[in-house]
Amino acid sequence: MKCLIPKSQIFHLQQSNLMEMENGLKMFTQTNKPCFSTKLICTYLSALFLLLILFHIQTSPFTSLSSPTSTPWSFFHPWKSSNHKVVETLTDRLRDSVTFLPLKDLRFAETAMTGNTWFMSSLNDSHDEDGSEYLYFPSPASKGKILCIKGRNTRDGTKNSYALAWPESIPNSATLIPGLTYVSDTYYNYDNLWHGLCAVAPFVSWSVKNQCLKPTRWVLFHWGELRTKMGSWVENLLKANYGSGVVVDRFEGGDGPYCFEKAVVMRHDLGRMGEERKMEVFQLLRCKAREVCGLKMMRRGNEQKEVPLIRLTLLMRRGSRAFKNGTAVADVFAKECASVKGCILSVVQSEDLSFCDQVRVMTNTDIVASPHGAQLTNMLFMDQGSSIMEFFPKGWLEHAGIGQYVFHWMANQLMMKHQGAWWDSIGNECPLPEQELECFLFHKDGQVGHNETYFAEWARKVLNQVRISKLEEASKKPQPISSACQC
Ligand SMILES: *[C@@H]1O[C@H](CO)[C@@H](O)[C@H](O)[C@H]1NC(C)=O
Ligand SMILES: *[C@@H]1O[C@H](CO)[C@@H](O)[C@H](O)[C@H]1NC(C)=O
Ligand SMILES: *[C@@H]1O[C@H](CO)[C@@H](O)[C@H](O)[C@H]1NC(C)=O
Repeated sequence: MKCLIPKSQIFHLQQSNLMEMENGLKMFTQTNKPCFSTKLICTYLSALFLLLILFHIQTSPFTSLSSPTSTPWSFFHPWKSSNHKVVETLTDRLRDSVTFLPLKDLRFAETAMTGNTWFMSSLNDSHDEDGSEYLYFPSPASKGKILCIKGRNTRDGTKNSYALAWPESIPNSATLIPGLTYVSDTYYNYDNLWHGLCAVAPFVSWSVKNQCLKPTRWVLFHWGELRTKMGSWVENLLKANYGSGVVVDRFEGGDGPYCFEKAVVMRHDLGRMGEERKMEVFQLLRCKAREVCGLKMMRRGNEQKEVPLIRLTLLMRRGSRAFKNGTAVADVFAKECASVKGCILSVVQSEDLSFCDQVRVMTNTDIVASPHGAQLTNMLFMDQGSSIMEFFPKGWLEHAGIGQYVFHWMANQLMMKHQGAWWDSIGNECPLPEQELECFLFHKDGQVGHNETYFAEWARKVLNQVRISKLEEASKKPQPISSACQC
């Protein structure tokens, strides 16, 4: 690009104008058009610069300050209206040039889970030092542009679209949405406790890193399809963290587009978030949930040193993956618990608990024993170092793939102790053993039996281990812990 305007001439331009211009220049430098069109563009740009400079001089606060009574720039007045027109024309052209692309880019359907994402595929993430990925608009990375979305379709993400535009030249049909909007796309969903937590955790992390900023609203997508609500557990968790309103925007004011004054986009769930960042988020969420539910951040084990309190919770579920005979299972655990001094058993039906009941139950749990299922996500509310015992129906070990270890991973992530799992070996065989997926679906919603001998031995072992570690903990000097949440 040879026809750059001398720096001195752009000196007066406002920062934002300057940025737009520089970006304009960059855009043009990137294209290798034939020489004559480059010349044309240069001429066009020069004219644009000149006019903007003139326009700016006229409206600059400094000039008006220097002449409070009369304007020394009356010379320019005959120009004013024509300048205005040109600027308006150019702004209109910028408006018209805002290009919408499909939110879901089918070219990346195969790799939606890995490196590339089909959601807003034309945009690259910004990275923090620890690898966290996000998009922020407007920012230097977006060249000062804000994000606009036409996104009311709830069935087909390719029918929804997005574009970037400068705030001064958003499309005429667009609604400008003030404040900070969190825009999320997940490969999974916002209903399931675990999947929902994975989708919203990076936003909470972003808040922590940015003065605990609260969003004005959320916009939720799944494969580019609009989602109008999140599950109540996830919503309550966010309410605890962000205060009263967790507003999920449904674009109810018509088909759009909607342009966001400020927006953060996350589209990789936990993605490459560093271990420490994840830990920080989980700790904050636990802290906030306990605070909102009126639970003191007390350290467990404030009991007599000789007899540590061991709180064992059997967290039941109904329907798929419920215990076939919950009474029998509860009997086994009750018997083992009764033989350990200080052990208290609670048998709790997860579906019957309000959000705060879940927080309360888990805050007061040292060992949770539960069939595999989303209710185990509540381990988030236990103290660090607590134990998990997990149960699976028949067929899962063979056919469920690595996804079944999700609570194992979560436990490690939260610095809990996953004390292993029991896989039921009794039940119907799947009719086509070599068909992996069919077999998984066959077993997916099965129920969990029990083995009295195994459960009893296992419970005894875990109870003893927890007893010893609580004794050790009690013998240590109690460490002062802050009850204040990070945000
Ligand atoms: C995004 O990153 C890829 C690979 O690093 C690069 O080729 C592409 O130009 C980038 N796109 C934008 C819009 O910056
Ligand atoms: C469940 O287990 C209990 C205790 O072992 C037993 O008394 C009861 O008959 C069992 N119920 C069913 C439906 O198998
Ligand atoms: C129950 O568990 C015990 C102890 O692990 C084991 O020896 C026994 O084979 C199991 N019973 C069944 C029916 O799997």
